[in-house]
Amino acid sequence: MCGIVGYTGFQNAIHILMDGLSHLEYRGYDSSGIALEKDEINIFKASGKLVNLVESLKKADDDKLDAKTGIGHIRWATHGLPTVENAHPHTSSTGDIALVHNGIIENYKEVKSFLENKGYSFKSQTDTEVAAMLIGYEYDIHKDLKTAVEAAIKQLKGAWAFCVMHKNEKGTIVATRKNAPLLIGVGEGENFLASDIPAIIKHTKRAIYLNDGQIAKVTPDLIEIFNPDGTIAQNKVEVLPFEPMALSKMGYKHFMLKEIHEQPDVVRNILQNKIKDEFSKILLSDVNLSEKQLKDINRIQIIACGTSLHAGLVGKYIIEELTGIPTDVEPSSEYIYRSTIADKNTLVIGISQSGETADTITAIKQVKEKGSHVLIITNRKESLLARLSDSLLHVNAGIEVSVAATKSYIAQLMSLYLFAIYMAETLNKSADKVQEIKHELLTLPSKLEAVLSEGMKIREIAKKYSSFKNFIFIARGINYPTALEGALKLKEISYINATGYAAGELKHGPIAMLDETMPVLAIMNKGLVYDKVMSNCEEAFARQARLIGVANHIDDKHKAIFNDYILIPDISDLVSPALNITVLQLLAYHIAEYLGKDVDQPRNLAKSVTVE
Ligand code: F6R
Repeated sequence: MCGIVGYTGFQNAIHILMDGLSHLEYRGYDSSGIALEKDEINIFKASGKLVNLVESLKKADDDKLDAKTGIGHIRWATHGLPTVENAHPHTSSTGDIALVHNGIIENYKEVKSFLENKGYSFKSQTDTEVAAMLIGYEYDIHKDLKTAVEAAIKQLKGAWAFCVMHKNEKGTIVATRKNAPLLIGVGEGENFLASDIPAIIKHTKRAIYLNDGQIAKVTPDLIEIFNPDGTIAQNKVEVLPFEPMALSKMGYKHFMLKEIHEQPDVVRNILQNKIKDEFSKILLSDVNLSEKQLKDINRIQIIACGTSLHAGLVGKYIIEELTGIPTDVEPSSEYIYRSTIADKNTLVIGISQSGETADTITAIKQVKEKGSHVLIITNRKESLLARLSDSLLHVNAGIEVSVAATKSYIAQLMSLYLFAIYMAETLNKSADKVQEIKHELLTLPSKLEAVLSEGMKIREIAKKYSSFKNFIFIARGINYPTALEGALKLKEISYINATGYAAGELKHGPIAMLDETMPVLAIMNKGLVYDKVMSNCEEAFARQARLIGVANHIDDKHKAIFNDYILIPDISDLVSPALNITVLQLLAYHIAEYLGKDVDQPRNLAKSVTVE
């Protein structure tokens, strides 16, 4: 998390840095700062959202703001409160060096005591200030910024993307990264640095990705890249994939609402050229597994975090249903700290919208060493995780700005359907079910549109329930993960305490919480578990819980016990999670919006979680 941006060229740096930071707010937004190079390095910082920095810059001396080189940072606090002292940029003891950092320095305490023993003192509680001081210490020895950075990173452990300036090295930014993203935007007489594409896409479509351990020396006219062993590197210049248009709200009040409304097109887009009709074989050229390798797979492990983990749980149902191959799903953060069993016949699927999640990256690196084939499902085909993949399914949902994942989740589900179908067809299994799923997927976009057209009704229900402090979501079978994801959406953007349960588990404990203050939302799809969920709803009704139903079939029995219900189009059980979650996303959105919450940037969260 945290976003960094850098500029050196002929334009006024401040505008480019501030605009860049505004496009990186999804990475963190609890404080921000910039450093501008004039005769001195001038630093400006503010706690809270970026708008506070904008306000404080209005009071700054114009002369100090007039600079052609600078670096900026937007923070998601890891070490120390989100105060001005802890905001980046941090400086060396003399103030000659300024540093912005994304990542975590794991051995910062040891380095700090090493420096304290040499007489250094610190103003902040951050690990980053320690790195800035260490670079300053090395600069005093080497008198060259690139060499100082090189010497410093040899002493650091952890993850970082750094941009560093020294007041005596005019127009120069030294940058390096390890397990945290950083790209260099290539311009004419100017160059850019950023954690992510949206920060620079307005200015250039050409970029260089730095590899782990490489150091770049960037000036307006030259980008020199050095490998960890000091040799000159020739990284290729790539064309960036995003259009600035994707960053506009297009008339919606929030990005989240816009992104939910994009879901029908996201589904169309991902199915296009892959499923022609229910009778033709699927086309999935991105899977680099030979038929023999596929046939040898005897186990699948899915690893992911948060919303992506919920997509993985749906994936387990689909894959096991269509292929019969045992599939386990585990949070990446759990997977990495136990002896996991994986070998060359294990297929490991990593799912991540950002492709940057530190826990998932660590887990994937671990399984690669065991010889397992790694399939990555991500929305960022240029990300670190994508680069670690043996097979890459790019979900192609377009940039998702809102911190709460919506369209990327649907797109992940689609990739899992496609992959499960591909496996089943290669293994000659479950032909009837495959045909049914293909048919249902092809009709999904219009059904999603029908759900979106119920927006006003969902908004009314949201208003009615917005004053409740707690919420329970229940479902069974393939929609159990939908209940988990619906509850996650509600809690992350409205801060209401919402929990998802397998409906059958209600009576094993959670039922004790039920009374008229606890709404229970039940996902009821006409299929295998419909009657069972209905029985669980009856149990909740008997405890006076208020019931909300999300169902594709409503009868008098429902009407007698449900306070409210949302009727969705008819859909088969196996594809229903994609439709049901859209209702729950809208419900969460409207509750949060009604409560006046910061929907696109909920407190304490960030779009990409680059720390373990
Ligand atoms: C919730 C959300 C998070 C992410 C999680 C993993 O809306 O977005 O729970 O799903 O942080 O992130 P990725 O998918 O980027 O690995």
